[in-house]
Amino acid sequence: MRKLKVALVGCGRVSSVHAAALHKLDETELAVAVDVKADRAKETAETYGCRWTTDYREVLKDKEIDAVEICTPHYLHAEMAIAAARAGKHILTEKPMALSVADANAMIKAADENGVALGVIFQNRYNEASQAVKRAIERGELGTLRGTRAFLTWDRSDDYYRDSDWKGTWDKEGGGVLIDQAIHTIDQMQWLVGEVDFIQATYSTRAHDFIKVDDVAEAYLKFKNGAVGCLYANCFYTYDADVFLEVQGDKGVAQILKDVARIKIGNETRIVEPTTDNPTLGKGYWGMSHSRQIEKFYRALLRGEKPEIDGHAGKAAMQIVLAMYESARRGEPVYFK
Ligand SMILES: NC(=O)c1ccc[n+]([C@@H]2O[C@H](COP(=O)([O-])OP(=O)(O)OC[C@H]3O[C@@H](n4cnc5c(N)ncnc54)[C@H](O)[C@@H]3O)[C@@H](O)[C@H]2O)c1
Repeated sequence: MRKLKVALVGCGRVSSVHAAALHKLDETELAVAVDVKADRAKETAETYGCRWTTDYREVLKDKEIDAVEICTPHYLHAEMAIAAARAGKHILTEKPMALSVADANAMIKAADENGVALGVIFQNRYNEASQAVKRAIERGELGTLRGTRAFLTWDRSDDYYRDSDWKGTWDKEGGGVLIDQAIHTIDQMQWLVGEVDFIQATYSTRAHDFIKVDDVAEAYLKFKNGAVGCLYANCFYTYDADVFLEVQGDKGVAQILKDVARIKIGNETRIVEPTTDNPTLGKGYWGMSHSRQIEKFYRALLRGEKPEIDGHAGKAAMQIVLAMYESARRGEPVYFK
């Protein structure tokens, strides 16, 4: 089988899980490591025995490269993905896919027009717990969905922001706890419950001195199927506590605590735990499923199919996050079309 040659763009914190997956998979070869910081690109290249460069445009000109995996600061995702699509490269980008709906749409359009695949990382959908709850909902085991709630309390210290030249900024990160950390939980919530009708939210910066972005936020969501949602997130807690997500229906309730699901239908309760065949490569709170999503993305590519989490699916959580910011600023609900 021909291996797809992939360029990894951005060799920072999250890149290690991408590089390890690309190296391990039968479908892919990590061909080039790219980072504006040469030492980072070089280190990744030395670890995995690939080429390196500081200029991502070089890999776009390289006919051997089939795909780019984008692990750069948020504000660069759209520009890089659109340039990659125009160069005929498939794209798998880290979340959030962009910082505006217009940019996300432009990415989708560029991929469609150039006949390349666009995938967005939301690895937690591939956790056993998330998959089990999704199946229970699809089979109607929970009945009519009525409510959903989520609670995320993580620890992003002042040093976390001080050490970064883009985190904690509106222009480069596009927000704080919502767009960076809680977006995973928001994605799972909308994937499990359905499309949002309207949202009313607030956010604030309470426990960090020099960032302007949200370090706490909460929201009331109304879904198009009538379900009610509530969400709370902060990144000033004392540690990265397990994230809680619940979906309640008129026949049962499913709860996910980090990566363990507890599905209660009538008097019966099922517990779904992670299997051990997929060890955590990065931070524990990132979950274990990056390699699963990356594998599925390239397998779909080789079969000529669209990725499961394509640009449209990847846009949904970003739109909810942006609506939360807008609602908080305007002090009123934001409706979805
Ligand atoms: N899915 C997850 O669980 C998860 C976890 C962590 C981070 N992320 C996402 O991954 C992305 C990167 O986050 P991170 O924490 O690794 O950030 P980071 O700051 O550690 O790494 C970003 C890297 O991109 C490089 N870079 C900046 N501009 C560049 C350019 N023009 N060309 C090439 N490289 C450039 C930087 O030098 C840096 O090494 C973000 O989208 C973030 O939200 C996702």
